[in-house]
Amino acid sequence: MTTVAVTGKGGTGKTLVSALLIHFISKKSSKVLAVDADPDSNLADALGVEVERTLGEIREIFQESRDEMGTMNKEQWLEGKIYEAICECKGYDLLVMGRPEGEGCYCFANSLLRGVLKKLRRHYDYVIIDSEAGLEHFSRKTIDSADYILIVTDMSKKGLATAKRIKELSKELKLNFKDIMLIANRIANEDAEKRIRAFANEEGIKLLEILPYDERVVELDLKGLPVVGLDENSEVYKRMSKVAEFLTG
Ligand SMILES: Nc1ncnc2c1ncn2[C@@H]1O[C@H](COP(=O)(O)OP(=O)(O)OP(=O)(O)O)[C@@H](O)[C@H]1O
Ligand SMILES: [Mg+2]
Repeated sequence: MTTVAVTGKGGTGKTLVSALLIHFISKKSSKVLAVDADPDSNLADALGVEVERTLGEIREIFQESRDEMGTMNKEQWLEGKIYEAICECKGYDLLVMGRPEGEGCYCFANSLLRGVLKKLRRHYDYVIIDSEAGLEHFSRKTIDSADYILIVTDMSKKGLATAKRIKELSKELKLNFKDIMLIANRIANEDAEKRIRAFANEEGIKLLEILPYDERVVELDLKGLPVVGLDENSEVYKRMSKVAEFLTG
């Protein structure tokens, strides 16, 4: 079982990278679990699938159904609901953490996610997690280990600073992983390419792939179409196929 966690500053392309990885890896393996662990995310849209229930919503149902639960064990009930929340999609399973209703406490959804990952991950060959902007899931132990941590960044100061911070944090937290790597996204020209290579060198982070700025990605976004529908000749599509090949090879 191989776990890939995708992280990086907000808006840098985490969901684009996660969706394309899920797309390519599920062509190779029938046992892929995709996890949308970003409360603000929309991985399902990027994949072009619909999800009926999120982990965040289970809390409400849980509170509403307390009286009807009767003698049923609380854990059993929750487990059943979690299975209901797993969407059997196009060649992979998808689990969405979602945004909890009410006050912004993610504890419940987080603890559900932690339990699910612990229990379910061994049934899959690949677990691909579209994670939050930081390493909160790791520091809270929602995700206790990953084989690969992919940091997505663009050339913005904040993107690069976040990438650097994540690399440092991964050391501080003594995370259990095989490799932490950078994916540079929206790289518009040779100068930007040079600068990202220099950054990776300086910070000692392996630069796994450089994705160019791609009008076709923008076009799909404007039309509200899933990014996995990207033209096969698109450079982003081709290069993400290579990344998937590397992670599964
Ligand atoms: N290579 C690219 N070329 C052009 N546009 C891109 C590229 N990569 C991403 N985008 C666009 O940038 C926006 C942000 O991408 P995406 O949603 O993947 O980022 P994110 O890191 O998941 O953001 P969030 O933190 O909000 O979840 C999207 O509108 C996407 O279409
Ligand atoms: Mg996202």
